[in-house]
Amino acid sequence: LEFPEAASRVSEKPKINTTVYDELGDRWYTAYDDPVALLRAQSRVIEPWVHAHLLKALPSVHGASVLDIGCGGGLVSNALATRGYTVTGIDLSTESLAVAARHDSTGRVRYLSGDALHLPFPDHSFDAVTCMDFLEHVEDPAAVIGEASRVLKPGGLFFFHTFNRNFLSGIVVIKLVEWFVKNTPPHLHLKRLFIKPAEIRSYLTRANLQLLDLVGIDPVWSTIDLASLCSGTIPTDMEFKVTKNLGISYLGFARKLAQ
Ligand SMILES: C[S@@+](CC[C@H](N)C(=O)[O-])C[C@H]1O[C@@H](n2cnc3c(N)ncnc32)[C@H](O)[C@@H]1O
Repeated sequence: LEFPEAASRVSEKPKINTTVYDELGDRWYTAYDDPVALLRAQSRVIEPWVHAHLLKALPSVHGASVLDIGCGGGLVSNALATRGYTVTGIDLSTESLAVAARHDSTGRVRYLSGDALHLPFPDHSFDAVTCMDFLEHVEDPAAVIGEASRVLKPGGLFFFHTFNRNFLSGIVVIKLVEWFVKNTPPHLHLKRLFIKPAEIRSYLTRANLQLLDLVGIDPVWSTIDLASLCSGTIPTDMEFKVTKNLGISYLGFARKLAQ
């Protein structure tokens, strides 16, 4: 290389912030002056959508086994457990897992510390796997999807929510949050790790997963008031909604094909 130093600078990409979750404690469930409030508002739409599709797609499976990869503080895992699913949550952040376990009203969720890239389960272990607001937190989402598919039973379902990569999503998901929500750390999200729907489609195909539905998730802008914006907090009743617009963020599910 003519300019090896320049080449190494180019390859020094910023890394996504993974330590922020360790420090949240019960703020996973209580904070409004933090982007985690957006995650809670989102999960109020995402989790019922997952439940509805599980009911429809696996009608004969009662108490289906669900693995929640990158479960964090257990927002999705704990809600699914209250509906009767047999839930396992896995995450790198042991601090978040402790919070998740404290907020598990069923006392039945199995919380494990582990890496999404090396899941500690045999092949064909689960009826469903969820990856919510997670795939954009890793450098190799295709490998995570491959691992998810490996641990799914044939016919099992893979659910995911992530962010599209374009100018608008960069503004809405990264810049607006940095500008208007207190306690937003640097590199909470990185635009380069956002994933275009076409990329997800190809990762799913490679992992033997057939896409069954893909919908957009947008904020309901009218639920965000000026007073909250000015105070750097998320309104307690902020809502997200399912839309046809995949431009900002999207939610989908796929079925694992028989081998
Ligand atoms: C934005 S949070 C999503 C939490 C949860 N899925 C939800 O929707 O509330 C991302 C989570 O991914 C976890 N994480 C990041 N990299 C991971 C990895 N390689 N394996 C397991 N968990 C990871 C972080 O610790 C964090 O809890």
